[in-house]
Amino acid sequence: MYKNLYEKITDTLVNYGYVFIENALNETLSHELLKVAKDSNNYKNAGISTSLIIDKNRRKDKILWIDADSKATKEYLEFAKGLQEYLNHHLFLGLSYYEAHFARYEIGDFYEKHLDAFKSKKNRIVTTVYYLNDDWNKADGGALIVYDKEGKELQKILPKANTLVVFLSEDFPHEVLSAKKIRYSIAGWFRVDK
Ligand code: OGA
Ligand code: NI
Repeated sequence: MYKNLYEKITDTLVNYGYVFIENALNETLSHELLKVAKDSNNYKNAGISTSLIIDKNRRKDKILWIDADSKATKEYLEFAKGLQEYLNHHLFLGLSYYEAHFARYEIGDFYEKHLDAFKSKKNRIVTTVYYLNDDWNKADGGALIVYDKEGKELQKILPKANTLVVFLSEDFPHEVLSAKKIRYSIAGWFRVDK
């Protein structure tokens, strides 16, 4: 069903290591996912946990791990599973698992520049971020900035509904600028360790 999309993601990943695509999936799915994200009331502090301490200075968003417990999340996870299979088939990545969570950034929330994975711990291999926000403009802040390893800014992406970002988790530092409106996303990772 998503063959063209999978192909575009795969080709661009091979050439650049990252890709972002506007109007990536079905618009209705994006709306349905936003509804699920908004209706859920069990978001937890994300923070960065080093040992048992959650550092809320680096990351302010709240998260909710996703299951296939609604039609929309089921459909989203099926899209991801298809992408996992396509990437494995064409790039031999051996991805074995996908985990994803909704993230809610309240006004003023941000996520400092970080990497999603470190070379020493081969776990998160490919990152996905899918955005759910209607009517998002530059003035609303909350952009995702993707950097290269030298710290050069590669791309500034607004978290607009149905925009999908995919990148190699170990290679691209990124940050979320302070949001001026409530901002919803789905961050996900293909892993090799489960
Ligand atoms: C993350 C992340 C980006 C976003 O959760 O690791 O970088 O735009 N999220 O929500
Ligand atoms: Ni990240």
